[in-house]
Amino acid sequence: MVVVAILAAGRGTRMKSSLPKVLHSLGGRSLVERVLASAEPLAPSRRIVIVGYQAQEVKAALHSPELEFVEQTVQLGTGHAIQQLLPHLEGYTGDLIVLNGDVPLLRSETLEKLLHTHQTHQNAATILTAYLPNPKGYGRVFCNDQDFVQQIVEEKDCNPAQRQNQRINAGIYCFRWQNLAQVLPHLEANNAQKEYYLTDAVTQVGQVMAVDVEDEQEILGINDRLQLATAYEILQKRVKEKWLLAGVTLVDPNSITIDDTVELQPDVIIEPQTHLRGNTVIQTGSRIGPGSLIENSQLGENVTIHYSVVTDSVIQAGSKIGPYAHLRGHAQVGNNCRIGNFVELKNTQIGDRTNVAHLSYLGDATAGNQVNIGAGTITANYDGVKKHRTIIGDRSKTGSNSVLVAPITLGNDVYVAAGSTVTEDVPDDCLVIARSRQVVKPGWRNKSE
Ligand code: UD1
Ligand code: CA
Repeated sequence: MVVVAILAAGRGTRMKSSLPKVLHSLGGRSLVERVLASAEPLAPSRRIVIVGYQAQEVKAALHSPELEFVEQTVQLGTGHAIQQLLPHLEGYTGDLIVLNGDVPLLRSETLEKLLHTHQTHQNAATILTAYLPNPKGYGRVFCNDQDFVQQIVEEKDCNPAQRQNQRINAGIYCFRWQNLAQVLPHLEANNAQKEYYLTDAVTQVGQVMAVDVEDEQEILGINDRLQLATAYEILQKRVKEKWLLAGVTLVDPNSITIDDTVELQPDVIIEPQTHLRGNTVIQTGSRIGPGSLIENSQLGENVTIHYSVVTDSVIQAGSKIGPYAHLRGHAQVGNNCRIGNFVELKNTQIGDRTNVAHLSYLGDATAGNQVNIGAGTITANYDGVKKHRTIIGDRSKTGSNSVLVAPITLGNDVYVAAGSTVTEDVPDDCLVIARSRQVVKPGWRNKSE
C-alpha cells in the first residue's frame, strides 16, 4: 500500500509573486497538479498535500474529493512538514512516497522504479538521486559502492571536500512509514539553517538505498521564473518529440506550443505560430495554422484552420475555418462547412455543408444543413438583460447585412432579403423583406438650393 504526500507549504519567495509557488502554471497545469499527476499510476490509497503559505488558496485551487490537506502553520523545515503527518497516519503500515510540490517534470516511470527498488530490497527508505555537473544548492548524498546511503549533507552544512560530491538528493523519497514515524519525533534543528531536516530522518530509519534518475531534467526544482521557463522548454521538447515520432508534422517546431494534454493523430499538420492547449483532440488529415490558437476543442478529420482562434468548440470533418475566425462558447460546426473571414460563432450550432463566409456574428444560434449566411449577417442575441436564441432552418439563405433579432425562428428554405432587420418568425419556404422600400427623387439638387 502506498500513501503519497506532497510538500507544498513553502512560500517560494524567489518567484516574487502574490501567487503561492506551487500554483504557478506550467503548460496549462499548476506545478502541484503536475506532481499529483506523476504519482497517479502508483494508485495511491491516499494523497496528502502539506500546505502552509496561503493554504486556503492552494486548497481552493486543488479542491478534489480525492485529496487530503494537512496544514503546517509554521514552516520549520522539510522534516517538520512530514512530522505533521504523524496524527493522520497513525497505525498505517505501508509505504509513504514524499514528493516536492515544486518538482513538476518527474516521470511516473521514475517513481515506479523508486517504489520497485524500495520494495524488492525491503529498504526502510529509498531516495532519488542524480549526478549533476553543477550540484549547487542541493543536499549531497554519500553512499557505499552498493548504493546504500550513509549520509546526506545539505550544501550549507557541507565542508569543502563534501561540497565536491556531485551526487545530489532530488528530494523524492519512499519510506516504510513505521520506521519513519519512530524517528520523526526525535529530529533536531542543529544545522546551518536551524530547520528540521527530513534528510536527517533518512539516515536514521535503517537500510536506505539511492536510485539514480535516468534523466536529470526530471528533478528540476522550480524556485524562480527562470527555472519555470526552463521547465516549460523541457516540457515542450518532450511533447513535440512525442508527436513528431507519432507521425505529426510540425512546421517550424520552435514557433509552435503544444500542451501535454493535447491528442493528435498521424498526418495532422501543424503550421508555424500555432498553439494547441488544454483538452484539444485533432484527427488525421487536419491542417492547423499558421497563426492559430486551439483550446479545449475537438477537430474531426481533414479540418483546415488558418489564422483563427477556437476555444471550447467542436468542428466536424472537412470543415474549413478562417482566416480570422473566432469560435468560442461551445460552438459546433458540422461536416464540410466553411466559416470564413472575420466570423465569430458563440454558443452556436451549425449543420452540415453550411457556410458563414464573411463578416458575421452568430451568437446563441442554431443553423441547419446547407444554410448560407450572407456577408455581414448578425444575430442580435442580447436585449440588454438576457441572451436569446436564433434558429435558422435547412437550406435557408440570409442576404448581406441582415440582422436577425432574437428570439426568432426562420423555417426551412427561407430567403432573407439583403439589409433586412427581421424581428418576427418566418415560416418555411418564404422570402422575407424587412426594410423600407427604396425611394428615388429626381432633380433633388436643384430643389434643395
Ligand atoms: C531539499 C533537501 C535537499 C534536496 C533538495 C532538492 C532537505 C533538508 N533538503 O532542500 O537535500 O537536495 O530539497 O530539491 O529536505 N517545505 C515545506 N515546509 C517546510 C519547508 C519546506 O512544505 O517547512 C516544502 C517546500 O515548499 C518545498 C519542499 O518542501 O516544496 C523543499 O523545501 P526547500 O526549502 O526548497 O528544500 P531545499 O533547501 O531545496
Ligand atoms: Ca528547493
